[in-house]
Amino acid sequence: MPGPKPARSLAAVILAAGQGKRLRSKLPKVLHPVCGRPSLWHVLRAAAAARPDRIVVVVGVGRERVEEAIRSWGPSPEPVLVEQPEPLGTGHAVLVAEPAVGDADEVLVLAGDDPLIGPEHVRALLRVHRRTRAAASVIVTEVEDPSGYGRVLRDGYRLIGIVEERDATPEERRIREISTCAYAFRREQLFAALPLVGRENAQGEHYLPDVLGILLAKGERVSAVPADFGGWAGVNSRASAAEAARLLRRRINAGHLARGVTLVDPERTYIDVEVRIGRDTVVHPMTFLEGATRIGQDCVIGPATRIRDSVVGDGAEVSFSVVSGARLGPGVTVGPYSHVRPGTVALEGARIGSFVEVKNARIGRGAKVPHLAYVGDATVGARANLGAGTVTVNYDGYRKHRTVIGEDARVGSDTMLVAPVRVGRGAVTGAGSVITKDVPAGALAVERAEQRIVRGYRARKDAEHARRTSRGS
Ligand code: UD1
Ligand code: CA
Repeated sequence: MPGPKPARSLAAVILAAGQGKRLRSKLPKVLHPVCGRPSLWHVLRAAAAARPDRIVVVVGVGRERVEEAIRSWGPSPEPVLVEQPEPLGTGHAVLVAEPAVGDADEVLVLAGDDPLIGPEHVRALLRVHRRTRAAASVIVTEVEDPSGYGRVLRDGYRLIGIVEERDATPEERRIREISTCAYAFRREQLFAALPLVGRENAQGEHYLPDVLGILLAKGERVSAVPADFGGWAGVNSRASAAEAARLLRRRINAGHLARGVTLVDPERTYIDVEVRIGRDTVVHPMTFLEGATRIGQDCVIGPATRIRDSVVGDGAEVSFSVVSGARLGPGVTVGPYSHVRPGTVALEGARIGSFVEVKNARIGRGAKVPHLAYVGDATVGARANLGAGTVTVNYDGYRKHRTVIGEDARVGSDTMLVAPVRVGRGAVTGAGSVITKDVPAGALAVERAEQRIVRGYRARKDAEHARRTSRGS
């Protein structure tokens, strides 16, 4: 009796060796960020959705940086890096990967500079590829302006051919469907056809798409898998990278809208790929939610706000402000016009008002820093209130020192708290004081000269002035 059929094995090959000349950049093209993560990160994530047994990344220029970036993401399985000594084309790049692909039954090929290919597209590609028992399959997509691209001729999922623009009849030129660089192959057919690919083309390169024509000529089945990206662009030039980001942003924003987040103007809202937002949160225009940011439910964020690598609790409100590396508890309000810097933790109901800078500080429950203040390297107790113009003088030119303000304390306007210093629980400081010594709980600390009164001053001054001017005329 034959044993159980062994599972198909799959190798993913990601092409990342191109020079990216059109970008004019020092950064390798596959490391250019798109919606907060490098293009290659998006492509690796898409490849992982196919659950490949191995991942091969073909690298060239900037190999070390690409390697370092991949290591920092820790993808599983850990990719094998293969060097393409010279960028002789996408077909050549796949050929260079052959030894690393080994005996896998199927080969998924993706371009490291095409971040629009998502997990769902890779899954659809493999589904159709397997169902149609094709030797090769390719994702195709419709675009507004297909000029410059080869046009796809197909009958359902059956690919008939790809005609290059210069060879196309006027009718064929009207076709708006083009092929992407996302392929699934049966390994044997792929590597049998690849050596037959020539370089008789404008760039003198071995083009991977030529494999499809070779397979079709042999009578093999090739499938075309349509996908809708709302357009098409890769990270080829700065202009197309911006277009790719725009299309990916649309997809990200559509996801948030579908999950119950209000984006007042989705076209003017910039949300990185890993950001999470809770239901019924409203995001106003010109807001940038970046990195590993998590926003709770029922928040109001923006307008004109940038939040990076921060956690924002339910019901919080942040407007016209910049928040980075911070944790804001439920119901915290920030802004307008404040800067909340790394290491800030604001507990439930705390208020960071207008023109306030906070850094490496813990603001207690319900504590208030309503206006014009600098709070750095400090601990502010629950319900404490810091008057306008309060400054924690945390830096002596050599080292940073901490300020500790107790619960329910009231720091008067324009108080300089020269750290290290402590203001006790419930203590009060007089407006304009320079506090250099600890203030005991419940006490008042005032540091300023007594006020003097000079009676009749104004009349005397006015008279003096009048005398001077009459003499001078
Ligand atoms: C490629 C495809 C085109 C497809 C388009 C989709 C070819 C010849 N063209 O065009 O059919 O419509 O993507 O976006 O396949 N690379 C290497 N080694 C090389 C050359 C390229 O690793 O020698 C890598 C590049 O780094 C890049 C990818 O392959 O990540 C695609 O190469 P690129 O030059 O960007 O091709 P496109 O002109 O975008
Ligand atoms: Ca490209």
